[in-house]
Amino acid sequence: MPLMTTRNTNETPVPTITLRVWDLPTRIFHWGLVATVIGCFITVKLGGLWMDWHVRFGLTALALLLFRVLWGVVGPHYARFSQFICWPSTVIRYLRGQHLHYAGHNPVGALSVIAMLLVFGFQAISGLFANDDIFTSGPLAYLSTSWSNTLTGLHNLNEWVMIGLVTLHIVAILWYRLVRKQNLAATMLHGNVTLKHSSLPTVAAVDSWAIRLGALFLAISTGLFTWWLTTLAPVGGDMSFM
Ligand code: HEM
Ligand code: HEM
Repeated sequence: MPLMTTRNTNETPVPTITLRVWDLPTRIFHWGLVATVIGCFITVKLGGLWMDWHVRFGLTALALLLFRVLWGVVGPHYARFSQFICWPSTVIRYLRGQHLHYAGHNPVGALSVIAMLLVFGFQAISGLFANDDIFTSGPLAYLSTSWSNTLTGLHNLNEWVMIGLVTLHIVAILWYRLVRKQNLAATMLHGNVTLKHSSLPTVAAVDSWAIRLGALFLAISTGLFTWWLTTLAPVGGDMSFM
């Protein structure tokens, strides 16, 4: 927890503290999800043989999301759902301007995180049952044709919900940058926030190599589970490219 001092306009020293909020696994999850979601959108628009890559990106997104759900239970302080999920009354108080101090997700940020995990989680799971009527089906599409068609419709419809949420997400980050002068994107890159010493006490997220090793084990497990799902597709079926 390195302590330093900065100067305000009156040249009075203001003690600040640099705090780790986003552990490395959470940051890798975030940028990994961004990359796989972009990959999914590009490949589905290219179509044709690129659909194999759509499925690979989609399954990787699923493994990442499963990891994040488990990390939300066992991960370090700020990654935990119990740390940031709050009652609607807290969100309303925050929106009314009662800006209590938050180093991690604030109540509105938490709401958008939950919405994104649910919406992208639905997309990845419905993809398992989706089919494009030609060459590509998710590994569980064979279970029921009518369910597959219904979930394919919802998978396609959800495109606009995802676009809406990501647009809101980026607008919120830009607003914090321009109005509140907080560079949240940089925080998601290096994991640290700088706080005024007066706003203490605050805990730092544990981001040791032991924690990272635990995260790696968890990520390998969710990756293997996702790969196992692909083996459930009929032999010689659409998943043979995996
Ligand atoms: C496809 C695009 C994106 C998706 C799906 C996405 C998804 C997410 C998710 C799920 C979280 C919660 C993180 C967690 O606690 O695990 C999050 C947080 C965050 N994302 Fe993104 N993100 C996207 C694009 C971006 C971009 C382009 C930026 C930067 C310019 C960004 C910056 C952030 C920041 C700063 C947070 C933390 C917000 C806070 O402090 O509460 N995201 N994002
Ligand atoms: C978070 C991950 C995913 C995202 C963001 C995503 C995104 C999309 C989008 C936007 C479409 C509609 C494209 C359009 O209408 O032009 C689509 C279609 C499709 N996706 Fe995904 N997808 C994901 C995961 C998956 C997974 C895991 C699979 C299969 C294992 C899958 C299989 C399909 C198929 C087969 C279609 C074509 C449906 C049709 O032709 O009607 N997707 N996906």
